[in-house]
Amino acid sequence: MKKLIAGNWKMNGSVATAQTLTEDIARAVAAEPALLEKNDFLICPPFLHLSAVRAVVIPMKAPIDFGGQDCAHTEDGAYTGDISADMLHDFGCRYVIVGHSERRQHHNETSELVAAKASRIHAKGMIAIICVGEKENERGAGHEKDVVGQQIGHSLPSSATAENTVIAYEPVWAIGTGKSATPEDIRVMHRFIREKLQEKLEDSGRVRILYGGSVKPDNAAALFAVENVDGALIGGASLKADQYIGIAQAA
Ligand code: 13P
Repeated sequence: MKKLIAGNWKMNGSVATAQTLTEDIARAVAAEPALLEKNDFLICPPFLHLSAVRAVVIPMKAPIDFGGQDCAHTEDGAYTGDISADMLHDFGCRYVIVGHSERRQHHNETSELVAAKASRIHAKGMIAIICVGEKENERGAGHEKDVVGQQIGHSLPSSATAENTVIAYEPVWAIGTGKSATPEDIRVMHRFIREKLQEKLEDSGRVRILYGGSVKPDNAAALFAVENVDGALIGGASLKADQYIGIAQAA
């Protein structure tokens, strides 16, 4: 299975920096075609910058997918400020991230809401990247598997398959802290996630499970060597082309 190198730009940058960053990434991938043998590339910019990314990717024919960082739980209508899965599909997105811990935390998103969003993504034939992960105090209390098991149990809609669903394990305490989970923590949790998926999906062995949380070029090789790590969801390091590409080179 190729690694999915997914950049989550979060709420950063401008139209101009989105364009330059995409150009730099596209040029780096074009200069090193061997990267494509091991990796698939995905960029998830803020909604407003999707058109700047697409305006680089399409004319350069860059082998890079782009996607949303969230979407609405329903089709269309009176939802001021929301963007639907239908709109993202219409725009040309292939992936949409849902249930990121920052949305669960700052927007009080529940796993049931995340499942409704993922269901809309699936209805449009796109791939949902469903994020799960425990908080520091939950791990401290030894409850990390309970928390992640519950999130997996409730965030996957009945439409989920290995083709249309990616799981991203992002321990909240590792996000933006420079403190990545250890390869052993990741090995144990990714195996657990694979087992939980077996309860829900027929083809669970083929679901990609990404790790996210302070992934950098210098720790990527060790993380990618862990069993059941099928790529990375990258925040801070995805905002620098050399770091993003450095992570792909580690695969
Ligand atoms: P960092 O890579 O900045 O820790 O962010 C991880 C993340 O939240 C990606 O979705």
